[in-house]
Amino acid sequence: MIAALCRAVFVAAVVLMVSACSSVNDNQEVNSADEEATVISGGQLPPPVTEGEVSFEQALYRRQSKRSFSDRQLSLEEVGQLLWAAQGLSVDGITGPTRTAPSAGATHPLQIYLIAGNVEGLHSGFYRYDYLSHNLELLTEKDLRAELARAALNQSFIKDAPISVILAADYERTTLVYGERGISYVYMEVGHVTQNILLQGEALGLGAVAVGAFSDEEVKALLSLDEEPLMIIPLGEPLQ
Ligand SMILES: Cc1cc2nc3c(=O)[nH]c(=O)nc-3n(C[C@H](O)[C@H](O)[C@H](O)COP(=O)(O)O)c2cc1C
Repeated sequence: MIAALCRAVFVAAVVLMVSACSSVNDNQEVNSADEEATVISGGQLPPPVTEGEVSFEQALYRRQSKRSFSDRQLSLEEVGQLLWAAQGLSVDGITGPTRTAPSAGATHPLQIYLIAGNVEGLHSGFYRYDYLSHNLELLTEKDLRAELARAALNQSFIKDAPISVILAADYERTTLVYGERGISYVYMEVGHVTQNILLQGEALGLGAVAVGAFSDEEVKALLSLDEEPLMIIPLGEPLQ
């Protein structure tokens, strides 16, 4: 009973926190191309929903890799939901606020990045996701999809997908605690986060594929990453 009450209080706190953040747009750079279409260069994402219409079992059953995408733009809501699924703020009722994917010793070695090329209201570019504030920070304002596809052994569907989510690791965060064993833990964590994104994509009616075949050096250089890139996940409306 007490545990259930605590959980309800934590859920309410997180929902309030995320909603409050969404009404504060201090960090949002707004560039209005015209009165009708406002395009932002990062900032606050729409708050995630924690209940959807597709059951977990349906998402599991339907998921399969998709490598062909339509021209439909993704919405900021869809992008925010996918990033939240990757590593967003959550609750577990025991340790309080946590994230949507587990992490060995809560060392959280993964950083989530976004390559946006066709998102309604968002400048094409390379962004860092801040899970705590549910915010996007613009790092490079340029459509990097074609170059990313080249760095991924010319897997051209990466260029066609409206977005790709990139998972990159700072191994030291985990190896400082667990030594060499920490390397395996980081790989395991990439699997957790990737599956979260794939299933959330399925629940949103989006197609996606886990891409592990790429040149580490080329991706790192293209994005000026401090961390090691481990997974690229292109997402978009699937073409049947
Ligand atoms: C670690 C990992 C790396 C992968 N790398 C690629 C890749 O570089 N390119 C690609 O098209 N698919 C890649 N895949 C997707 C697999 O090819 C796909 O999951 C597999 O064929 C099974 O099909 P399904 O996902 O539809 O069940 C990768 C999957 C995993 C788990």
